[in-house]
Amino acid sequence: MQELRKDFPVLNREVDGKKVIYFDNAATSLKPQIVIDAVNEYYSEGTANIHRGIHKLSEEASIKYEKAHDKLSEFFGAKKEEFILTKNATEAINSVMYSLFIGDFFQKGDKILLTEMEHHANLVPWQLLERKGIVKLEFVGLNKDFTLNMKELEEKIDSKTKLVSVAHASNTVATINPVKEIGKIAKDNKSLFLIDGAQSAPHTEVNFKKLNADFFAFAGHKMLGPSGTGGLIAKKELLEKLEPFQYGGSMIHSVEFHKSSWNELPWKFEAGTPHITGMIGLGKAVEYLNKVGMEKIRKHEKELTKYALEKMQEIPSVKLYCPKDEEKQAGIILFEAKNIEAHDLALTLDEFANIAVRSGMHCAEPLVSKINPKGLDRASFYLYNTKEEIDELVKALNTITESFK
Ligand SMILES: Cc1ncc(COP(=O)(O)O)c(C=O)c1O
Repeated sequence: MQELRKDFPVLNREVDGKKVIYFDNAATSLKPQIVIDAVNEYYSEGTANIHRGIHKLSEEASIKYEKAHDKLSEFFGAKKEEFILTKNATEAINSVMYSLFIGDFFQKGDKILLTEMEHHANLVPWQLLERKGIVKLEFVGLNKDFTLNMKELEEKIDSKTKLVSVAHASNTVATINPVKEIGKIAKDNKSLFLIDGAQSAPHTEVNFKKLNADFFAFAGHKMLGPSGTGGLIAKKELLEKLEPFQYGGSMIHSVEFHKSSWNELPWKFEAGTPHITGMIGLGKAVEYLNKVGMEKIRKHEKELTKYALEKMQEIPSVKLYCPKDEEKQAGIILFEAKNIEAHDLALTLDEFANIAVRSGMHCAEPLVSKINPKGLDRASFYLYNTKEEIDELVKALNTITESFK
């Protein structure tokens, strides 16, 4: 894994003579040269819109776009028709919410079951339906070790629960949720099941067919792809029935002044000019991930997490809020330091040690503010991180916490 660091130009960057240590991977990942090159090549050698012109440049761009599209559906074990490019995971979840909403899927009195560890992206969209008085949101809580309370989930789901929507892995407490099991419970209850895979897809193999899910949302930019990329994978049978929620060019089959019909899948759900370079770059990103191997990536990250858990628990005034077992978690350490506010600690780490961590509410305010109303810090790992970088973090935390005693 050490070898592949050279593929990421940012890792060679020095500030004040020191290498940057990037531990903010849960927010977005660094990009390998192969992705940067693919994006540059489109702009420098062949910019054209897709699925429109019949000239050479447009043909070339369309082929590249569709090849990347196919690669993505393959990567996720989905059918070609089941993959829709979005600008991020948030847009993917919002698309599902709006499609269900405008298709009158929910009836007054229905319920949506979420968990207390959801990112705002899998909470705020559903609140719209609650505000409209259509559904009631219910939440499954956590056990003391930050795992999901499955007993509570089974108790809360009932015939009124029309949708269960959960994070595959939490972006704060790091827990990996048993999504196959949750999917089975949802299916037995005839509920739709959505997985927010923003924190799982970059780190572990995801096979949509095996997940018991109707929808899977992910963030391409967190898995080496360009900014502004994400995706929605959804069962073909559902997509055929669902109403698209964005209308215009590309997504139509034919248009009259007063009515239109829709394009075939997946294009029915990609209205307007898509993020062409994004898709091409994301295709290269999954090519890269496949080359390294998702199993190898997960193994490496588990080793890093185990190491970080051990070392960080030894720092006297640092407290961790995540499962202490690397098998149960997604390579994220959520922590606080006694007497130091989260942003101050993150700033100090950045200023004095060139270490990038995230601080604050982490877009999961209901849960994080319950743990600490002033916010927490988060170090999150990816394939290019090393134990030596974790040593640097531990060293810096020891020095900083000593001086704030
Ligand atoms: C679990 C989870 N869901 C959704 C999102 C939203 O992703 P995006 O920023 O790509 O919309 C994030 C981003 O951090 C996340 O961690």
